Amino acid sequence: MRLTIKEIFDLPPDGRRVVVKGWIRTKRETKAAVFLEVNDGSRMGNIQCVFDEVAASESSKELPRASTGASVSVEGSLVPSPASGQKLELKASSIVVIGESPSETYPLQKKSHSFEFLREIAHLRPRTNTFGAVARVRNRMAFAIHEFFQARGFQYVHTPLITASDCEGAGAMFQVTTLDLERLARSGGSVDYSKDFFGKPAYLTVSGQLNVETYCQALSRVYTFGPTFRAENSNTTRHLSEFWMIEPEVAFNDLSDNMELAESFLKSLVDVALRDCTEDLDFFEKRVQSGLIEGLVSVLSKPFAHMTYTEAIAALENDASLFEVKPYWGLDLMSEHEKHLCEKIAGGPLFLTDYPKEIKSFYMKQNADGKTVRAMDLLVPRFGEIIGGSEREESLDLLQKRIRELSLNEEAYSWYLDLRRFGTTPHSGFGLGFERLILYVTGMANIRDVIPFPRAPKLADF
Ligand code: 4AD
Ligand code: MG
Repeated sequence: MRLTIKEIFDLPPDGRRVVVKGWIRTKRETKAAVFLEVNDGSRMGNIQCVFDEVAASESSKELPRASTGASVSVEGSLVPSPASGQKLELKASSIVVIGESPSETYPLQKKSHSFEFLREIAHLRPRTNTFGAVARVRNRMAFAIHEFFQARGFQYVHTPLITASDCEGAGAMFQVTTLDLERLARSGGSVDYSKDFFGKPAYLTVSGQLNVETYCQALSRVYTFGPTFRAENSNTTRHLSEFWMIEPEVAFNDLSDNMELAESFLKSLVDVALRDCTEDLDFFEKRVQSGLIEGLVSVLSKPFAHMTYTEAIAALENDASLFEVKPYWGLDLMSEHEKHLCEKIAGGPLFLTDYPKEIKSFYMKQNADGKTVRAMDLLVPRFGEIIGGSEREESLDLLQKRIRELSLNEEAYSWYLDLRRFGTTPHSGFGLGFERLILYVTGMANIRDVIPFPRAPKLADF
């Protein structure tokens, strides 16, 4: 197979002949030579293709068409580069322009473009340094997630995307229907769901957890990793309507086992990023977020901090004047509070536990105090929550009582309750938001820039 530019950079610059295929990033002409920077996305760095006077004149038909954005095939020999910072370059002998890219209309020019502008050309932005780097880090992290769990005896379970039950009980779900909405609206009648595709209301899942719990109660260590959907109207730099979530679930684990797993999981992902994504992280460090690498290295060096929700509220009340929303016991923490807790108080990642039951999901294990549940959120500097999880309520009575208190549809959860009827166990799990992980390791500021095609309120282009 033809070599990628990354593979070419692993070769010795001993004059061997190679063919480079990719897209032109920049073109520079001097009297004596033409320089093309070619990139194929296999690595951050380009390969510099140098046409000396002879080669340039032999390629005088093709070279004028070789403008920024064009796809090309360049043949030449690999030689050491006199330019600083790159060990080799291509002494080009010939070039074929495969696809032209007219400079009057190609939106990506040499100058740097704002992320806002690039969001409007999401189909072309992977050709920029930043979005190429994000894509490579995403890829490496996705694989590292499987490596982590597979090395620890977890089974990967595929949970459904279409569901009739609301995992988080928050009601922020997209409905899936084949009913003719326009006809229904015209008829003014009521909706007969027995006529709908599934014979009842159905939705896109907000989480694979309830389904993965069923396999947990058979295979002991499981995880799911797939897309999830939320119809909340959250226009923030941390929320997407479609995002990927990793959800491990372990039978017989209590909350502290769960936090241990979450901590070693996140640390192992950071470690892989630092080890395997060096070139991309160096770019993020220089161009996006200075201090990024030092911050990531320091995450590995010490245990994560722990605090109960109640302790956190007390700490926040001490600094109440700093916040737009005043902290009080019972408040669902905002990102300003979460950031303050880990940046100013813990100085790094922080586990908050034992939240008020009113602000957490119905399935969480209830504490003896009658007020709090065995929940854990992992908060990190810069944006707050990266992981949410809990020990699960294993008692049939307590779980049923909670479902009724919250007026959830008990019928829809009957299969979930069966897990407590037949061989119930203490068990725990959590969800890591994949895009929040990518924000964390890249230092990017907006979650819409770490997924190829973001979906958010009023945004479903491309
Ligand atoms: O805290 P959440 O809602 O927890 C659950 O869904 C549980 N069922 C997980 C479990 O215990 N198995 O979501 C988990 C994580 C959050 O911590 C956050 O990182 C991410 O998913 N997340 C989002 N990411 C992007 N956009 C959104 N709208 C998100 N909502 C949650
Ligand atoms: Mg949460």
